[in-house]
Amino acid sequence: MAQRGTPAGDFDYERHGTGYAAVRRPDPRIEARVHAALGGARTVLNVGAGAGSYEPSDRWVLAVEPSATMRAQRPVGAAPALDATAEHLPLDDDSVDAVMLTVTVHQWGDVDQGLREMRRVSRGPVVVLTFDAVALQEFWLAEYVPEVFALEQARFPTIEHLTDTLAAGSSAVRVESVPVPWDCVDGFGEAFYGRPEAFLRPEVLGATSALAMAGADVAERGLARLRADLASGAWDRAHGHLRTQPERAGALRLVVAHA
Ligand SMILES: C[S@@+](CC[C@H](N)C(=O)[O-])C[C@H]1O[C@@H](n2cnc3c(N)ncnc32)[C@H](O)[C@@H]1O
Repeated sequence: MAQRGTPAGDFDYERHGTGYAAVRRPDPRIEARVHAALGGARTVLNVGAGAGSYEPSDRWVLAVEPSATMRAQRPVGAAPALDATAEHLPLDDDSVDAVMLTVTVHQWGDVDQGLREMRRVSRGPVVVLTFDAVALQEFWLAEYVPEVFALEQARFPTIEHLTDTLAAGSSAVRVESVPVPWDCVDGFGEAFYGRPEAFLRPEVLGATSALAMAGADVAERGLARLRADLASGAWDRAHGHLRTQPERAGALRLVVAHA
């Protein structure tokens, strides 16, 4: 598979995406929310599809994924994936029943153009799983790597921006908060709210693009402090209740725009 010389988004998955699928697996509870939002759609387009997380197996699915490294991690039997970008979809108007976007819009070069494309090709809902970067600042990890969270706030479109942009051409747009379960299978940052030792594992850092983008020195400095706080008990004194909290209402959001 030919790799892109220049990444389609703001993170180079061709170079850094190799271990993605091992850490970023679909969580069944989050998956149920995404599938419910797809409603009765029989044909689904998954854009920024990566290794195929959250793609339904009981409907016809077509994926769009610009990184060859990510396409190569799609399991045998997964839906076919086109090498294309959100901003220029090689599909006709109203050609699918629904579009799904999971943890991808923050990486696109032109979010507004991409969302217009989603609205153009979907005759039904556009379902966006994303993070509210303002709410993300409340996550305790921000105390250790504030640079990473500043970066996230700059790169994520706000929820208001998504709803306003999707409102054009949609009959209604709703936003749901999606709680993160303690044992969340999908290894995004907030998934480890009650399992802080996970951030000391290199593969977790590698699969979280902002941690990787902030640079090794920033991550190392912050995580050295976390390691010390875990050893001294300081982390547990401040946040130890999270170790047994079954779920956390964090920054994960589902934005659903109806045709
Ligand atoms: C964090 S991964 C999410 C993958 C998958 N949707 C998931 O939930 O695991 C973000 C994906 O967005 C893709 N991406 C980045 N820029 C894009 C663009 N302009 N158009 C489409 N996909 C893009 C990346 O290649 C990457 O696979």
